[in-house]
This record gives sequence, structure tokens and C-alpha cells, in this order.
Amino acid sequence: MPLVYAGVCSHAPGITGRADQADPATKDGFYAAFDDMRAAIEASGAEALIVIAAEHFANFFMNNMPAFAVGMADFYDGPIEDAAWLGIDKFRAPGNRDLSKRLITEIMHTVDVAYAEEWKFDHGIAVPLHFLTPRFDLPVIPVNVNCQGPPLTPIGRAWAFGEAIRRAADSVPEKIAVVGTGGISHWPATPDSGKINEAWDRDFLDRWSRNDKDALLDYDDLTVYADAGQGGFEIRTFLTISAAASGATGTVHFYEPIPIFAVGCTIASYKL
Ligand SMILES: [Fe+2]
Repeated sequence: MPLVYAGVCSHAPGITGRADQADPATKDGFYAAFDDMRAAIEASGAEALIVIAAEHFANFFMNNMPAFAVGMADFYDGPIEDAAWLGIDKFRAPGNRDLSKRLITEIMHTVDVAYAEEWKFDHGIAVPLHFLTPRFDLPVIPVNVNCQGPPLTPIGRAWAFGEAIRRAADSVPEKIAVVGTGGISHWPATPDSGKINEAWDRDFLDRWSRNDKDALLDYDDLTVYADAGQGGFEIRTFLTISAAASGATGTVHFYEPIPIFAVGCTIASYKL
């Protein structure tokens, strides 16, 4: 079936783990935007949710770091972090091994993708799922783009990967939703944690909403690092969604810097 939903959201652990420390009105607005995103995914009739995330050395390490990886299991456990710290109870999310295998088989025609039959979700996937599938009743297909261990996946390759995901999603009979998680500017796990470059974020989201491929690919890691921190490398996940929704324009439903969450909190989607 043609892709039924494409969107992006933040995934910082503070969103759930430090919820009580944020300004209540701002936090409530952000959470309401997550609720709207869940409703939109449910309304799309999606039968599986592909979550394109940036992993944080929970499953993939420097001994064997894939540029792209897709999960191929019937279930996934999480969160791998301490549940109390993250503010998310231990869960088992359903997968769909057969669907993963068909998607991977199609993606492999143009992208050398790794696949994993074991995958423990870290906050990059657990935080979005906490809001988007709180009952864990929608099969999840986890996807990782290497935004962490240099040499990072080139952003142009992330675009090609997004195109391959779209082709694969369109090729299966199931209705597929895709959500990218990560970024945008942030400096997690550094002395600058809590710093947010709002102007940079808004410019990026303008390019993302217009789905302007040339503008979206006009980033290099040195300037991203200087302007948006090492967390800014996670724009790859948002770019992958842009490519999957190539030709569609998007709407930013929520953007607000929330320093205690250590990121400019974002909810956005494309009109497919
Ligand atoms: Fe992250």
C-alpha cells in the first residue's frame, strides 16, 4: 500500500524522565502535540510503524557499526536504560518479522542495510513509542541511521535510504507509517546540555517543511557540529523522512525550546 503517514518527533530522554521539571503549560502543549500525532497515525489505518531513530550505542558499537540497520524480530524489549531514570516502565513492543524481511529485501536492491534479530530499544525509540503506541498494540519496525560513531552516514546516503524505505513501504500490502526521531540542535551529555539553537532549528524546520532537497542536503558535519552540537547529527533521521515523503510538503505542529528536556521539542508531519 502507499505510505499512509510520515512525520518526525523529538526523542530526548528528558521528555519523559524530567517531565516534572518543565514549565507545565509548555510541557502540556508538547504532550498534546504527541497525542495529535498518535491520533493521526491511528486515523491513517497504519498496520505497522517504522521508527527511524538515532541509536546511542545501546545495540550497535564501534566494533561493527552499520550505516543503516533495520530490525527483523517478532518483539523488542525496552527501555534499555533504567526505567525510573527514563520515566518509562519496562515494555515489550510487538514487531513483525515477516514484514521486516520483505521490507529489507526490497531496500537491499539499492541500499546495503544491516538487519538485526535482536534489538533493545533505547530512548531514541522508547520515548516516541511511549506517546505514539502507549498500549504497544501496533507492530514496530526499528531502523537506525548512524548519527553517533564517525565516520557518520553521509546525509546524501540518508536521503537515498529514505527513498528506498518509501519504495519498500509502497511494495507491501500492509499500510505503513514512518516516524523519524532525533535532533534537532542539542548538546546532550556535554557541559552544554540544555543549550538550544532556536534560530538554527527554525531554519532547518523551514527547509524540512518545504521538503527542499537541495537545502536539506546543504549541511556538512563540521558546521552542524558548530551550530547544532553533536546532537545535530541526528538530522539524518528527519532527512530520511523527507526523502520517504519526497514531493510532499509538511507542517510543524509544535516547536518549542525546552532546556530541561535538552532539545527544541518538535512534532511535524508531511501531507502525503
Ligand atoms: Fe538522540
